[in-house]
Amino acid sequence: TNRSLLILPGDGIGPEVMAEVRKIIDWFGTRGLAFHVSEDLVGGAAYDAHGTPLHDDTMAKAQEVDAVLLGAVGGPKYDVLDFSVKPERGLLRLRKEMDLFANLRPAQCFDALADFSSLKKEVVSGLDIMIVRELTSGVYFGEPRGIHVEGNERVGINTQRYTESEIDRVARAAFDLARKRDGRLCSMEKANVMESGILWREVVQAVGDKDYPDVELSHMYADAGAMQLTRWPKQFDVIVTDNLFGDLLSDLAAMLTGSLGMLPSASLGAPMENGRPKALYEPVHGSAPDIAGQGKANPIACILSFAMALRYSFDLGAEAGRLEKAVEDVLADGLRTADLLGKEGATPVSTAEMGDAIVT
Ligand code: NAI
Ligand code: MG
Repeated sequence: TNRSLLILPGDGIGPEVMAEVRKIIDWFGTRGLAFHVSEDLVGGAAYDAHGTPLHDDTMAKAQEVDAVLLGAVGGPKYDVLDFSVKPERGLLRLRKEMDLFANLRPAQCFDALADFSSLKKEVVSGLDIMIVRELTSGVYFGEPRGIHVEGNERVGINTQRYTESEIDRVARAAFDLARKRDGRLCSMEKANVMESGILWREVVQAVGDKDYPDVELSHMYADAGAMQLTRWPKQFDVIVTDNLFGDLLSDLAAMLTGSLGMLPSASLGAPMENGRPKALYEPVHGSAPDIAGQGKANPIACILSFAMALRYSFDLGAEAGRLEKAVEDVLADGLRTADLLGKEGATPVSTAEMGDAIVT
């Protein structure tokens, strides 16, 4: 097979939710869609085995495969560790060395869970949008930065800084996604008050004019975008924005649809020799030590992260859709892990029961 996948289950509920993804991979395998899967340690599990949260061999493997699928890292057991070997350092190293500059956060509403949304049902029903956040530059990284003394008071400084090439590459990632989806891209900045916003708008427009004339491009000020996202989110398909605005807008969009146990994500880097982007897929949630080892975790966020891998790393959009439909169906049938029960008080299903129901 020419489809390679590195699985890093990690800590806490990471291995529990990943076990359900393995069932799905096996299911595809028996139907002629094989993946070359290798599995390795990350986070606290890697620290316990090797004294480092990410072994060099694992890092090298991650650079070679088509896609990395990660569960979650961390847990109270590791809170006492030195910063340099903390579990999250393993994840940060992966993101940094793979140079994953485009963070993809979908907001997708499963009708059976529409009551979970903070918005009215008709506003979120059928919602399926994607926010692309620039992840490696902007105000969180720009120089100069720091807290300095000026005269008789201190001043805190951060610098919003974007180069044309940084904007160009994240714009291309977003245009490529729009092509695989509904063909529409909305770019958000504040070109009315920020120089970096003016450059952002120019570069995104130029990339679109030159290489993506088939994608419908629009621009919006990010503050207006926040309003529109809560007023009528279905007007959007793909949104691309910078690191800071993307941080806020992706958290906002996540809550349009509900529970942490449902939210997948992807981080993409530059295209490799085979044309596929470097890619890391992971649920948004963490290792949930409060429920780890009890079979209570919702595996859907991790399963939907794998669906994203199918669509964006392996060009298997139909199979991704099929998997998402299977998730939709079990939810419509009323299956709920404990986190999806709210106040209803019905009987929750276990992690494995949810996974089995999705596979069959
Ligand atoms: P968390 O996301 O692990 O848990 C927050 C709450 O949501 C908990 O009550 C948990 O039980 C629940 N929850 C999370 N995922 C769930 C799922 N799939 N099914 C059902 N319930 C779920 O965040 P928290 O508690 O702040 O952090 C716990 C540990 O995870 C820490 O060590 C933290 O550093 C780490 N973490 C790791 C992340 C990663 O690996 N990307 C991201 C966030 C936190
Ligand atoms: Mg955030």
